[in-house]
Amino acid sequence: MMSLSAPPIPTGPAGLSALRALLEERNLMAALSALHKQMGNIFQITLPGFNPVVMVGPEANRFVLVSGRENFLWRNETDPVTALLQRGVLVVDGAEHSEMRHTMNPSLHKQAVASYVEAMVAATDQVLDKWPAEDERDMLVEMRKVALLVLMQTMFHVDFENDLHRMWKPLMKNLKFISPGLWLIWGGMPRPGYQRARQQMDQYLHEMITTRRSQGGANNDLLGLLVESYEDDELVRDQLLTMLIAGHDTSTSLLTWVLNLIGQHPLVYERMRAEVDQILGVKAPNLENIGKLDYLDQVVKETLRLYPPIHLGARVAAQDIDFQGHRIQAGARVIYSIYLTQRMEAYWDQPDSFNPDRFEAGKKQVPYTYLPFGGGPRNCIGFAFTQIEAKVVLARILQRFDLHRPNQKVHLHMGATLEPRPGVKMQIQARK
Ligand code: HEM
Repeated sequence: MMSLSAPPIPTGPAGLSALRALLEERNLMAALSALHKQMGNIFQITLPGFNPVVMVGPEANRFVLVSGRENFLWRNETDPVTALLQRGVLVVDGAEHSEMRHTMNPSLHKQAVASYVEAMVAATDQVLDKWPAEDERDMLVEMRKVALLVLMQTMFHVDFENDLHRMWKPLMKNLKFISPGLWLIWGGMPRPGYQRARQQMDQYLHEMITTRRSQGGANNDLLGLLVESYEDDELVRDQLLTMLIAGHDTSTSLLTWVLNLIGQHPLVYERMRAEVDQILGVKAPNLENIGKLDYLDQVVKETLRLYPPIHLGARVAAQDIDFQGHRIQAGARVIYSIYLTQRMEAYWDQPDSFNPDRFEAGKKQVPYTYLPFGGGPRNCIGFAFTQIEAKVVLARILQRFDLHRPNQKVHLHMGATLEPRPGVKMQIQARK
C-alpha cells in the first residue's frame, strides 16, 4: 500500500520567499503566489489561528467541487462568515442546503434574470444621473452604489437610493468582519466593535421582511419567495443578508477591476466603446442588444480570470481524505484557489498579462482551469444574474461617459472579495 504523507508545510526558504513577497508587494496574495511557486499544488499554511491545506490546479478543483465533494463541508463553525450569515445558504450543508437552494433558484434562473434588465438599467442610471458632466470619481465607491441598487431593486423590490448613505457604514463594517484580518492569527478570540453594525443591518432587514409580510408576500422576487417559504423571520434574514453580501460585493469587485483595466489599456477601451456604439447606439441596453456585445463579454471573462472576486473556496474536511499521495486529516480547513489556478503557467500563456483575446469565440480552456463562479452543484447561484448585470452596467457607463484613468497603481486587497485598493479614481466626462 502507498504510504500517505501530510501536505507539506513551508519551511525556511519557502517561508522566507513568501514573507519577502508580502513585504515587497504588501499583499497576502503575493505571499500565497510565492508559496505556490515553491511548494507546488498542495501545501499547508501554518499561522497560529489559520492553518488551511491549500489546493491548486484542475485536478484539485475537480476533486473539491465534483468527484470528491462528499468529503467536504462548507460550514465552518469557527468562521466569522458563519457567525454573520448564521443559516444562510452559503454556510449550510446537506439537505438543508439543497432545500434552500431549490427555494431561491427560481428568482435567479436565466428567465427570471432576463426580466430584471430594465431595472438594472434604471438602477445604473440612478447613479450615473448624479455624476456631473466632468469630474473625478472613485469607481470602487461608484460601482458599489450601482451593485447595491441593482441587487436591492431586482431581488427585493427595494429602492435603496435613499438608504445608501445611512446603511453604507454598517455594510462596510459587516464586510470587514468577514474579511481576512488579525483573527487569522488570533483564532477564535472575541472580536468586539462589530455588534452595532450587525444590529443596524439586522434591523433594516427585519423591517423589509415585516413590510413584505404585511403586503402579503409575493412580488415576483426573491424576498417574496422567501417570506412565502419560511415562517421564521431569522431564517429569511439569513438568506437576505447572504444574497445582499454575496450578490453585491462580487459585482462591485468585478466592475471596478474592469474599469481599472480598461483605464490602463486604451486600445481595449476603444474597441469596447466602438462595439457598444455600433450595437446599442443611443438605445438603452436590453436583453437582445447586450447579447451581441461579444468583445465586452471577452473583457469581462478575462477580468474574472485575472481578478476573480471570490478568489478561493473554503471547506472543512468531513473525514480523513486521501488526495494524490497526501492524507488530509478530518476537521482540517481546506481551500481551493481560483486565483492561483487561473494564473498557472501550465495552462495560460503569459498568465499575468491582460489579454481578452484569450476568450475569442472557439478558443477552449482546459476544464477546471477557469472557474470564477466555482463549479459542480454548489457553483455560484448568481451566475446568470452577473452575466447580464455586468454587461448592462458597463455598456450603460460607456454609452454615457468618457473615462480616463490617471496612471495610478492599485494593489490587490483580500477583503470579503478581491478589491483594487486604495480605489480606482477615474476622470469622467459626459458624452455629447
Ligand atoms: C462577479 C460576480 C460573482 C462571482 C465572481 C461569484 C463567485 C462565486 C463563487 C466562486 C462561488 C462558489 C464558491 C465556492 O466554491 O466556495 C459562489 C457561490 C455563491 N454565490 Fe456567487 N459570485 C458572483 C455573483 C453572485 C451573485 C450576483 C449572487 C446572488 C445574487 C451570488 C450568490 C452566491 C451564493 C448564494 C453562493 C453559494 C451557493 C451555494 O453554496 O449553493 N453570487 N459565487
